[in-house]
Parts: sequence; structure tokens; C-alpha cells
Amino acid sequence: MDRLIRVLHIEDSRTDTDLVRGVLGRSVAAQFTVEAVSALEDGLRRLTEQGGADDFDVIVLDLHLPDADGLTTFTRAAAAAGAVPIVVCTAGGDDTLGITAVEHGAQDFVVKWSSDPDSLGRTLIHAVQRSRQLAELQRHLVESTNTGDQLAATNAAIREFLARVVHEIRTPITVISGYATLLRDAPDTFNPVEQLESLSAILGQTERLRRLTDTLLTHENLEAGAVHAEPEEVCVVEVIDSALAAAGPAAVDFKVRCDPGLTARVDPAHLQQALVNYATNALTYGDRPYSVTADLEGDPAEVVIRVIDQGDGVPHEFVPQLFDRVALSQAPRTGKGLHGTGLGLSIVAGLLHANGGDAWYEPGDPRGARFCISVPVGQN
Ligand SMILES: Nc1ncnc2c1ncn2[C@@H]1O[C@H](COP(=O)(O)OP(=O)(O)OP(=O)(O)O)[C@@H](O)[C@H]1O
Ligand SMILES: [Mg+2]
Repeated sequence: MDRLIRVLHIEDSRTDTDLVRGVLGRSVAAQFTVEAVSALEDGLRRLTEQGGADDFDVIVLDLHLPDADGLTTFTRAAAAAGAVPIVVCTAGGDDTLGITAVEHGAQDFVVKWSSDPDSLGRTLIHAVQRSRQLAELQRHLVESTNTGDQLAATNAAIREFLARVVHEIRTPITVISGYATLLRDAPDTFNPVEQLESLSAILGQTERLRRLTDTLLTHENLEAGAVHAEPEEVCVVEVIDSALAAAGPAAVDFKVRCDPGLTARVDPAHLQQALVNYATNALTYGDRPYSVTADLEGDPAEVVIRVIDQGDGVPHEFVPQLFDRVALSQAPRTGKGLHGTGLGLSIVAGLLHANGGDAWYEPGDPRGARFCISVPVGQN
């Protein structure tokens, strides 16, 4: 890698700026240049002036500044930073803030200066390497697609997919190990409520990892033709309710409209997984109000379930390939960033086809998204 790393240090304490300059100046792993500003507004101005963000490889951001405090410091800086990775600094005692910032997209966090200050250089080098690798993968994909080199495009897409999976694994691991280390090393800094919250965060991230492994396994089984549906008579509203319960606490916001007597003939686990994927997407990319409707439609009649939100919907140019595996550079931009592996909707389609059903998208009217599923109607 390029061994010159240009750092923008947004930090109001002169002592800390001097310390960081000193530590990075001694690094043998890379040569660092450090430009320091003492307020968030100055940092934002520096990043957004002409070509500003291109002047830096990484941003070191203090989360407690005279003109901004806490997580908003990070979200405002991230909006101006574009592709430049951000490593946040927190003071000892509010270490959970650093973990929260990673959950919101920071590359990493350091606690001032509780650990070996020399490790800062390594943290910054890794942050820069990771973001350059991702940019390189995207560039490859675009180039190889442009030249019509399908094989290279496939390779790049696979590497890009792996980068997404690694990112999806890395974030929960950082959060879990962050909280677990704090609970072990400084249990007295947590009151009982905070202890419970930290443990819940650990369990929440474990659940996220479990969902990820489920996604990868289901995808693999679908590709291998190893998914076999075991259709049975199911009560549709019961499957909808259990899917919303499995989609997490935020799914209480969904209103459900479904005749309680409506039945379908489908593998309940498959229908549930499809609905969980739709509901999770609505909560991630869509907006309130959220609803699920189920109706009998068509001749012969089928059960049609729609998961509806009032967000921006999917731009119409992306709709034709929406249920294919989505590559990072081809994913519709929803203004809410990119999440996940890009496999969710292709799994929904695969599971529904295995059950003699279908999956498709309808734009909302006048706005929003409607993700739809059809399954054979039950006998009752
Ligand atoms: N309700 C929605 N509103 C707007 N865009 C959506 C909605 N649902 C999905 N999308 C778009 O479709 C893309 C593909 O979704 P999909 O579920 O296949 O992948 P993912 O959510 O990125 O990853 P995964 O579900 O595997 O974790 C998303 O990246 C998003 O851009
Ligand atoms: Mg998804």
C-alpha cells in the first residue's frame, strides 16, 4: 500500500493533537501527515471545500467538541467525509459511545489513550487499507462490466460480495468484543441498568450474526437445489404475526390486515423467512407507516401478501433485477446507505418458487414500496 497517510484530526485539545502528532511521527509502519482543526464546523468546511475530502486518507474524530457532542458529531462528519474512513476517539468512561459509532458506520474507535498509544498508527493503517480495498473492488466491478468482460465481472462481484459479508461479520464482532471487554475490565463503571443494556446489545449482535449465517446457508441450499418445501395448511395471519415477532422489536410498528380464517398451502418456515426478509428491508430502507395485507386474488384464487412501507420505494430502473443477487455497485440507492449481503430478496424468490408461489415488487401509490408474495390457497 501507499505508505503516506494523510490524517485530518478534528480535536479541540491541543495536548491531544500534539500527542497524536508525536505518536504518528514515530511510526515506522507508514509516514503520516496530520492537519488539525479544533471544531467540527472547521472540519466540515475543510472536507466540503473544493476537493477537500480528496486531501485526506483518514479522519480521526474526537466525539466531544465545542460545537458538537456525542454520536451526532460522527453522523455529521460522516455526511461530509464521503468515502474517507473515520476513526472516532472517545474519552475513557464513555467507551460505549465508540462502539455505537462503529454500529453507525465508523471504521473503528480508540479510547483516549487508555491502550498503547502506538497502536493508533496501526488502527489508522488498517482503516485506510479496508476502505481502499472496498473502493478498488467497486472500481474493478464497474471497469469489468464496462468492457463486457463477464468473467472478470463475476470475479469482482464475488470478491465484493465477500467484502460485504466480512463487513457484516466484523461490525457485530467489534461491538460484542467492545462491550464484553468493558464489562470484564471495568464492571464498576456500569450501573445495573447499563449492564443489562450492554448484555442486550451483545445478544442483539449475536442474533444478527445468527441471521447472517442463516441467510448464507439458505442461499447455498437454494443454489445447490437442496431446498425442499414441505407444504401444509397454515393460518396466514399466524405466520404473519410470527414473522413480525421474529423481525425484532421495531416490527411492532406494522399494522396487519388479514382475514383470520384465511389459509394457505405452503411450508410455514419458508413463508415466515420470506416475510421476515421483507419486513426487515421495510424497516431498514423504507419509512412509516408500515403494514402487511393479505387477500385472495386472481382466478384461480391465490393468497397475495403485501409488505408495504411509505419510504422512497425502489427506483424503476432497478426493479427488473431486484430479486437477483444485488451487487453493491448495482444496488438501488435508498438514501439510507447499504446494508446486508444483497441476498435477501433472491432468497425470498427462491423460497417462494420452491412452494409453487411467486415474489414481486409493486411501486406504492402515490409513494412507497409494496413487496408482494403469492402462495397457493388452502383447502378450508
Ligand atoms: N422496502 C424497501 N424500500 C426501498 N428499497 C428497498 C426495500 N427493500 C429492499 N430495497 C432495496 O433492495 C436491495 C436488495 O435488498 P436485499 O434484501 O436483497 O439485500 P440487503 O437488504 O442489501 O441484504 P440482506 O437482506 O441479504 O441482508 C436493498 O439493498 C435496497 O436497496
Ligand atoms: Mg435485506
